[in-house]
Amino acid sequence: MKELPKIENAWLLVQDGKISDFGKMENLPTFEGVDEIDAAGRILLPGWIDSHTHLVYAGNREQEFVDRINGLTYEEIANKGGGILNSAKKLQETSEEELYLQSARRLEEVMQMGTTAIEIKSGYGLTTEAELKMLRVIRKLKENYPLPIKATFLGAHALPQEYKEDKRGYLNLLINEMMPKISKEGLADYVDIFCENGYFTVDDTHKILAAGKEHGLIPKIHVNQFNSIGGVQAAVEHEALSVDHLEVMDPEDIESLKGSQVMPVALPSCSFFLAIPYTPAREILAAGLPLALATDYNPGSTPSGNMNLVVSLACIKMKMNPEEAINAATVNAAYAMGLSETHGSITKGKAANFILTEEIPSYGFMPYSFGANHIHSVYINGNKI
Ligand code: NIG
Ligand code: FE
Repeated sequence: MKELPKIENAWLLVQDGKISDFGKMENLPTFEGVDEIDAAGRILLPGWIDSHTHLVYAGNREQEFVDRINGLTYEEIANKGGGILNSAKKLQETSEEELYLQSARRLEEVMQMGTTAIEIKSGYGLTTEAELKMLRVIRKLKENYPLPIKATFLGAHALPQEYKEDKRGYLNLLINEMMPKISKEGLADYVDIFCENGYFTVDDTHKILAAGKEHGLIPKIHVNQFNSIGGVQAAVEHEALSVDHLEVMDPEDIESLKGSQVMPVALPSCSFFLAIPYTPAREILAAGLPLALATDYNPGSTPSGNMNLVVSLACIKMKMNPEEAINAATVNAAYAMGLSETHGSITKGKAANFILTEEIPSYGFMPYSFGANHIHSVYINGNKI
């Protein structure tokens, strides 16, 4: 991950939305009938890939932000009906059209910040109707925007109030009612669960991942955010595509990922916003494992979809080198959303999805000069957005 191949003073040719060739300026062939873009002084990087977001949500939760400033914890807020249930209530009361408009605005905002492929989860509906509404909004975003979007069914995000004393009933609803509908309409690619004390157990995780698989949904799970309870091992057993959060990692968790096909995913802007530990990137990398980075964009724990900030935080707080952080936010992130063959690097034949920076001295200047916008323009399938 420390290797980030680069060419200084280079040209790149885009044809039919794909990267068709590149090389050094001294070997520039003559091209007929091409549109030229002068990138002098700029850096061209693969576009960011955000493999973990909850970008479809209704309204915001600034009040909880203030409550936390004044001393309540994230868990205390959730226990008194705030948190995910607060967002679920808002979403249930919001029309599909309005939800689409709010979400599309966020999507356009993150594309301007360099995100060129994105995963989006359900999980703020928590009823069949509202979960399907979220997934239909994601489908509509897929239809209307040029970047790859993957949809994840996260019905097992929190236990709705009506099921407080009947967790088994809610799991049955997810498995026997929601999953068949979702799979029939082809509304999701992945299945997710919040495996955490106070949310869903390892046993629940086994049930949901097994059922998801029967419906053609590949697992990608929320795990080890506050506690290590065995969810990582469950994910490995079910051949999950990724395990996400990982703020709290026991040596056994790292051990169990070795030799697996599961991508660990860190969400440093969630750690920043909640003031919780950061994923121990150096320990994970020292074990020979890869790591991907994503935003976790959501109204409760990470109200930011800025991948540039994520890359900075990974360097500043997780001690990743700029090369490692950029690889984690591009090529490894592509793996975490099933796009390895087509996205995530400057490779001939891959989609022409890239960032052109302002005139900056080096790519390391991006995470170093944190909080500033160094993006000049963003291209998706060769088109400037
Ligand atoms: O990934 N941890 C679980 N879910 C979200 C946050 C949910 C919320 O607070 O709305 C996350 O951090
Ligand atoms: Fe999340």
